[in-house]
Amino acid sequence: MDWEEQGEPGRRFWLVAESPAGQKLRRMFGQLLSWDPLYGDMRHYRFAHGRARASRIALVNHFIQLNGYKSYLEIGVRRKSAMFEEVRCEGRISVDPDPSAEADYPIPSDDYFARHDHRFDIVFIDGNHTGDQVERDLVNALDRLNPGGVILLHDMNPPTLFHARAGYEVAGRLPSWNGTSWKGYAALRRTRPDLTMHVVGTDWGVGIVHPGRQEVYSGPCESYQDLARDRKALLNLITVPEFLRLYAAPFAGA
Ligand SMILES: C[S@@+](CC[C@H](N)C(=O)[O-])C[C@H]1O[C@@H](n2cnc3c(N)ncnc32)[C@H](O)[C@@H]1O
Repeated sequence: MDWEEQGEPGRRFWLVAESPAGQKLRRMFGQLLSWDPLYGDMRHYRFAHGRARASRIALVNHFIQLNGYKSYLEIGVRRKSAMFEEVRCEGRISVDPDPSAEADYPIPSDDYFARHDHRFDIVFIDGNHTGDQVERDLVNALDRLNPGGVILLHDMNPPTLFHARAGYEVAGRLPSWNGTSWKGYAALRRTRPDLTMHVVGTDWGVGIVHPGRQEVYSGPCESYQDLARDRKALLNLITVPEFLRLYAAPFAGA
């Protein structure tokens, strides 16, 4: 089912809720309550690098501080001020084919991996938001990961069918969007017992993938309804406090 099949009232609801004013209001209440039903946990926690609001940036910096990582790759960067510049790592590289983006390598991630053989301690995947591309980015990033490294992914926990829609643009606007990125993560959740995988319930779902082990997910992962029906097990969804307990010590070999 596509979100537009929810009919005109659903369409109008999301256009208002995800208008700039709607988003601002939601963020305001979210910060007051420290919980945004779409974004997830917004509370402050003590991470390895210090106290910070839970977010993709806090999780990336936590791993860098904990493991003494020296090299970071961001796939899909757009504005460096949004995340890249906040990443506390000695070596940082960004890839994004949009000519208006501020990337070090202005090419698609597939081309970057085909032309360069750099290796990384930590990779953040936030480029093309389709399942197939995210799966390729994950497989390529795993291939370039140093021992003791980790991959993080954005937008792994779309809260509604609207946010998991295939295309970004709606009626000429760009409301919040997670795309079908989660399907790329799900493909490896189903097939790779040699990896450890979690999604943390903050910032639209931050995926964590590294060599390790997992009991693979055996249910269907085709549609948003499959995700909504069994979200916790499919994603291996954890809370921020659970993340902090699981990742309290450096990786062996980092
Ligand atoms: C959501 S933005 C990234 C935001 C940034 N990571 C942050 O956290 O603020 C997604 C970016 O991915 C880029 N992108 C799209 N396709 C890509 C591809 N094949 N390879 C790398 N980046 C891609 C887009 O141009 C866009 O700038």
